Amino acid sequence: MTSSAHATDQNIVLDKIIVLVGLMGAGKSCVGRRVAQRLNIPFLDADAEVEAAAGCSIVDIFEQYGEDAFRDGERRVIARLLDGPPSVIATGGGAFIDEQTRALINEKGLSVWLRADLETLVERTSGRNHRPLLNGGDQRETLAALIDQRHPIYAEADLVIDTGSDSANFTCARVIDALATYGTGDASNRPQTQAL
Ligand code: S3P
Repeated sequence: MTSSAHATDQNIVLDKIIVLVGLMGAGKSCVGRRVAQRLNIPFLDADAEVEAAAGCSIVDIFEQYGEDAFRDGERRVIARLLDGPPSVIATGGGAFIDEQTRALINEKGLSVWLRADLETLVERTSGRNHRPLLNGGDQRETLAALIDQRHPIYAEADLVIDTGSDSANFTCARVIDALATYGTGDASNRPQTQAL
């Protein structure tokens, strides 16, 4: 860690839990883990917590109980995580789209949308089979449709960071900078100020 990065980290007032939102493949877990390390607070992966609570994989939850049951479990798990001490939570891509989960995140957390373009999302999710929404069908078409449906909703997040093909370390540094200036009147990382 550089001395200037350290100075930046110290400026961050952690009175809220940081919640990363965005589409599958945006890098929420990779970046979230690094942000938590920089801030010296725990990292929590909501998908992993749902799997631990259910005792089976997300693919199995979708297959055996359906998406609605997954969303219910996801909402309960995120509510529990948001009641905990300061942490960085990486959410699954659909969590912030669920109205009740979004309301909880908005109430108790500081949401950061990691926004990635279609090419990046396709590249980062290809060859993986642990995401039920991308199994079967054309992955690129599905992700393009999800960008259309979900980006206007992710835009309700407190902050937005564009990722593209940047490294997780670089995106982490940008998140840290945006957190450091959040609440200072700097509007450069507010979703409504940036073009989609
Ligand atoms: C989903 C995203 C996944 C996981 C589930 C549903 C979604 O998480 O929660 O497969 O609806 O976008 P990641 O965004 O971490 O892949």
